[in-house]
Amino acid sequence: MNYDRYIPALRFEWLSTLYDPVMLLMRESTFKRTLVEQANIKNGYRLLDVGCGTATLTILIKKAYPDTEVTGLDGDPKILGIARAKVAKEGLDIFLDTGMSFELPYPDSSFDRVVSSLVFHHLTTENKARTFKEIFRVLKPGGELHVADFGKPHNALMYLISLVFRHLEETRDNIDGLLPQMFQKAGFDRAEETARFMTIFGTLSLYRAIKA
Ligand SMILES: C[S@@+](CC[C@H](N)C(=O)[O-])C[C@H]1O[C@@H](n2cnc3c(N)ncnc32)[C@H](O)[C@@H]1O
Repeated sequence: MNYDRYIPALRFEWLSTLYDPVMLLMRESTFKRTLVEQANIKNGYRLLDVGCGTATLTILIKKAYPDTEVTGLDGDPKILGIARAKVAKEGLDIFLDTGMSFELPYPDSSFDRVVSSLVFHHLTTENKARTFKEIFRVLKPGGELHVADFGKPHNALMYLISLVFRHLEETRDNIDGLLPQMFQKAGFDRAEETARFMTIFGTLSLYRAIKA
């Protein structure tokens, strides 16, 4: 098992309590709302948020679609503590599980939708590939993966920022625009970039990948 490169939400565990304020710099509500819209969620669906962190996206989905079963999973018990407090404050019925993205603790074909925001740039190339295979496994046939994460720079300013950020965490695959082909390699039928946003950390892309 490869746990040797685990990157917490803000790189260092002691910074985790600052995660939500920092996210305000990332146009968080704009791109997360767009991600939820593109996921085309229906009542009765079962959804998984991989690397849910403080559960902002998880909560957004449950509030927008109360008649869905929503689960958030994260490998960091400390950030899940923050998530649990937020979920309790909102009085929502959301499952929060501790687990690794590349060893999902769910049976095959469990979910209609898997969403994930700002997680894959934390994973080594090997763990990205393992994670995409796991997501493919737990999705039902016809299920969809919807992702927000750093992507290929889409203008000169984003390119300049990427020159710094490609050396941080595990962003290189993202910045080189490799995520869609990695989704397809894991078995997904159609994988595409659906939107791009400028952020102070570089281009933030949305993706959709479908399990045929
Ligand atoms: C930048 S935060 C994003 C949190 C949340 N999805 C959001 O958009 O605000 C990345 C999260 O991924 C989690 N994470 C990193 N590697 C993981 C892995 N292999 N399995 C599960 N969670 C992981 C971290 O603990 C952290 O909470």
